[in-house]
Amino acid sequence: MTPLASAADLPTSFCGIELAHPIVNGSGTFDAIAARRAFGPALEETFPFAAFVSKTVTLMPRQGNPPPRLWELPGGLINSIGLPNKGLAGYLTHDLPELAALPVPLIVNVMGFTRDEVAELVRAFAEREEVAALELNVSCPNVETGLIMGADPTETARLVERVRPLTTKPLIVKLTPNATDPGAVAAAAEAAGADALSLINTIRGMALHPRTGDQWLGGVTGGVSGATVRAVALAQVADVAGRVRLPLVAMGGVQRGRDADDLLRAGATLVAVGTESFRDPLAGARIAAELAGLRQEAPAPGAVAFHRP
Ligand SMILES: Cc1cc2nc3c(=O)[nH]c(=O)nc-3n(C[C@H](O)[C@H](O)[C@H](O)COP(=O)(O)O)c2cc1C
Repeated sequence: MTPLASAADLPTSFCGIELAHPIVNGSGTFDAIAARRAFGPALEETFPFAAFVSKTVTLMPRQGNPPPRLWELPGGLINSIGLPNKGLAGYLTHDLPELAALPVPLIVNVMGFTRDEVAELVRAFAEREEVAALELNVSCPNVETGLIMGADPTETARLVERVRPLTTKPLIVKLTPNATDPGAVAAAAEAAGADALSLINTIRGMALHPRTGDQWLGGVTGGVSGATVRAVALAQVADVAGRVRLPLVAMGGVQRGRDADDLLRAGATLVAVGTESFRDPLAGARIAAELAGLRQEAPAPGAVAFHRP
């Protein structure tokens, strides 16, 4: 009888970081500190992800958006959380020591409203050996230009060129799907020195109050995630994989091993699980095991057939 597949059957190398399997979490969708409080040491023994990606850290503390912050869709969520966080100083004091104790490498996701702010964040984490890699969340407006940094290839390139010399750690640029041509942004990030790309972040969406017809979300619009974005994610990952040579962290609506396998076949090196972890906190481990099972049945794919020429 074939033994049950184990996630440990899928060791993966990503930017020089050795991982037990290719499943990580999407930033902001798994609170490892709260999970440890709830599950205790059991969390360390059965940690669902091969690396942990922290939620976005900004330079200054943020309250986040006024409520309501969530709207449930038939196949996912609209969130308008607004990136509440303790800010850099609070993160370094309170969160980093706890997250560094997790049994997997730590990837810190940062966001700034100017290139200077992002530079300050990157410089601060560059010297922390607890941090394996940095992810730049570029889905926010540059207050100097009003442009969403990651929606524009030139803005993205200028940001990456600015921070690249500040760290030797792998730099992952998290692309926004709310761009006219995410492939062009990906190519610009690669040319400017990114080590890897992650995609997709949430897709801008809106919901109305069912009785009054007023806007539902306190932040007016929010980000759509979950199963409903899976096909968009697959198309964007395949497109970006055809445009760059960098390793990709793919995400968007992953609920099963099969969904992760699709993104790997489209050219990703890692797959992140986001919204599904709210339904099932151990989804990451389940999806990794399902993926290992699929790979037992059919070996890892070779070159992907559906890249654009
Ligand atoms: C509640 C919530 C909070 C999120 N917070 C962040 C965040 O802090 N930083 C970030 O880069 N992405 C954030 N994301 C985006 C996810 O990391 C991921 O890119 C997106 O949700 C698509 O994956 P999914 O469909 O599996 O959720 C958030 C998503 C959700 C649903």
